[in-house]
Amino acid sequence: MARERRRDQELRERARKVIPGGMYGHQSTRPLPDAYPQFFSRGSGCRLWDVDGNEYVDLMCAYGPMLLGYGHPKVDAAAAEQMARGDTLTGPTDLIVELAERFVEVVEAADWALFCKNGTDATSAAVAIARATTGRKQILVAKGSYHGAAPWCTPFDTGIVPEARAHLVTFEYGDLASAREAASQAGDDLAGILVSPFRHDAFQDQTEPDAAFARGLRAICDEHDALLLHDEVRAGFRLAFGGSWTRFGVEPDLAAWGKCLANGHALSALTGNDRMRDAARKVYLTGSFWFQAAPMAAALATLAELARQPIVPTLERLGQRLRLGWQEQADRHSVRIRQTGPVQMPLLLFDDDPKLEKGNRWAAESVDRGAYVHPWHNMFVSAAHTEADIERILEATDPAFAAVASGP
Ligand SMILES: Cc1ncc(COP(=O)(O)O)c(C=O)c1O
Repeated sequence: MARERRRDQELRERARKVIPGGMYGHQSTRPLPDAYPQFFSRGSGCRLWDVDGNEYVDLMCAYGPMLLGYGHPKVDAAAAEQMARGDTLTGPTDLIVELAERFVEVVEAADWALFCKNGTDATSAAVAIARATTGRKQILVAKGSYHGAAPWCTPFDTGIVPEARAHLVTFEYGDLASAREAASQAGDDLAGILVSPFRHDAFQDQTEPDAAFARGLRAICDEHDALLLHDEVRAGFRLAFGGSWTRFGVEPDLAAWGKCLANGHALSALTGNDRMRDAARKVYLTGSFWFQAAPMAAALATLAELARQPIVPTLERLGQRLRLGWQEQADRHSVRIRQTGPVQMPLLLFDDDPKLEKGNRWAAESVDRGAYVHPWHNMFVSAAHTEADIERILEATDPAFAAVASGP
């Protein structure tokens, strides 16, 4: 029951001639089954329409940026009003001060904030400021974790010289002994540990850290007089309002934010504490579009919405319903699956599926029925999803599990 794809196919052919690879980066559908449309025409709430007019309940949320719904009226009105007054100007507007003040209020560990565009800008700035603060080079990162697409952190090495990745030491996420071992390898050149609030690497089960791991990393940093750097770009504001490890009583020295903080408008942020203030002043950080006012207006409106009505319990309730629904369907069709990580950022992998054949089949059948899921990347529940949307997704995935059960 494949959906109409004529316009998508035409655009793919045109794109192949004028865009490298036909599309690039994480939004290229090349690694995904054919059922995935490459091009969309619009989004509203948690719904997406592809260029052929097919509708989907979206569980990818633009790979994270959408948290309150596509086209959120208050957020988009705030951005549009500011856009009419001015966006990219010769200097910043008053909104940058207001937004920095708001961040310092909301993020417990923050004494200051600066703003950029992509998550990679913020993680790269965090690493530079950690090195400038400590005068040391080595940064610990968890094996396989994604921190962006700059030469120092991109997961692929085409076009990258090994020197760009010098001074990174890896450890296993969730394994304190391995972090300690990596720290002793870095010795007195340890500048900091960069870590995400939970392990959300593509293709593998997600891992939620326990308090001992979170506190242990903080202790290693303190023992070495090094800095704890949090990569909140993907999980920030979906696990908590403010820092994700506040629940463990752990505060990072620097935290990188991005994706959903302006509900889809282009903005990322770096927050830090007083110890890093001087280095943050000295490291040269800038970009032609970093000071745009409209995304800052959108971020203030997003933060106001999140403060007005805590959304994390809603995300957890919806995510839990989805997780139980998928487990019930998998059990009924005698298919073995694993669902890991926080329920509001679901990942579903199939047992005995080394080549992802089951995962791809399940995803393709679901997408074909109007549920935009992902076979190997974590998905995102948003505040725009309702229980009815979750039921709609489950209606689409039930026959998808049946298809997996029926074999190749
Ligand atoms: C954890 C994490 N850090 C950093 C980044 C980089 O963010 P951006 O793609 O906005 O540069 C991402 C993007 O997916 C991410 O998930």
